[in-house]
Amino acid sequence: MTVLVTGGAGYIGSHMCLALLEQGEDVVVLDNLSTGLRELVPSECVFVKGCVGDEHVVRGILARHDIDAVIHFAGATVVPESVERPFFYYRNNTAATRNFLETVSDHGVGRVVFSSTAAVYGTPESGTVAETAPTAPASPYGRSKLMTEWMLEDGARAGAFRYVALRYFNVAGADPEGRTGQSTPRATHLIKLACQAALGRVPHLGIFGTDYPTPDGTGVRDYIHVSDLVVAHLLALRHLRRGGESGVFNCGYGTGYSVREIVAAVERAADCRLAVREMPRRPGDLASVVADPGRLKARLGWTPRFDDIDAIVGSALAWERGLALDGTVLSPLVGRPRTPALQINYPT
Ligand code: UD1
Repeated sequence: MTVLVTGGAGYIGSHMCLALLEQGEDVVVLDNLSTGLRELVPSECVFVKGCVGDEHVVRGILARHDIDAVIHFAGATVVPESVERPFFYYRNNTAATRNFLETVSDHGVGRVVFSSTAAVYGTPESGTVAETAPTAPASPYGRSKLMTEWMLEDGARAGAFRYVALRYFNVAGADPEGRTGQSTPRATHLIKLACQAALGRVPHLGIFGTDYPTPDGTGVRDYIHVSDLVVAHLLALRHLRRGGESGVFNCGYGTGYSVREIVAAVERAADCRLAVREMPRRPGDLASVVADPGRLKARLGWTPRFDDIDAIVGSALAWERGLALDGTVLSPLVGRPRTPALQINYPT
């Protein structure tokens, strides 16, 4: 059995590939390298450069590999960018995924694990948000992902496949062994930018909004370590392979940190003062987004291992230190040169 990982050259996808290989799975990666990096794909994976919406490429993979499940990461993820470029998000996330789901289900692939997002909820009424909360996305990004959840629901109802949609809160940190990490060019994530500011790679960190109705006025988020997130995917895959029902699960810890608290954590990790600049709110941002992860723990048996903001920030900073000034991955595994994954170009 082989797992097809879309977006496997990206930040979360590359961590997923390592975890699947450790479980003894065969892995095929499909990635168009629009934001992903080929050198992050482990050399044991088969790598196919292409778009998930390109049915010829996807059919080529399905014809040559015994794919029993897909883990679908590929997509654009930046909330403010989606406000500026809504049609790009609907094409890249929703329309491409529609093609992908049709192609894999026509081929009889019966298990889909999908990267959804906390952005489907919109403004939570209070405290933590559970899967039963109403969906009301505040950005085109959140809508593009919610539409995919609806397609999955309809596909499952029609018997096309069973699926697990994982609603990620704020994914952060890097592989504790230093094999991969957040390397996306022009990344907009708070923890990455704060680490870059600590290392003097950007002149300062902007704090987007200081007048939110939160304890210190800055945005509050639930930061989940990427390695714990990846384990949620392994559990989802096991659940589907055992015949488990389709479902939607939050992926977060249930604890919120403000932007200022993240700044303080990075200052502790880097042992320096960050240059910060207070800025206006960013379009599409919400005040506070914190998960209720009860369902993931109860139904899939998920137990977080890295629920510690200092561990998250420490691993992110360690990875950032290994990147060149232009963001090039210099030493994914310190002292060991990396062999690129075998690339196969299927005829289209
Ligand atoms: C992130 C994810 C999104 C996911 C959402 C779920 C990315 C790129 N986006 O969005 O896919 O749906 O979590 O909650 O991973 N901030 C600053 N200065 C900066 C950058 C950010 O103050 O330079 C603030 C933001 O205003 C926000 C917080 O930090 O309050 C987190 O921002 P960011 O890391 O960009 O993630 P989200 O927009 O929450």
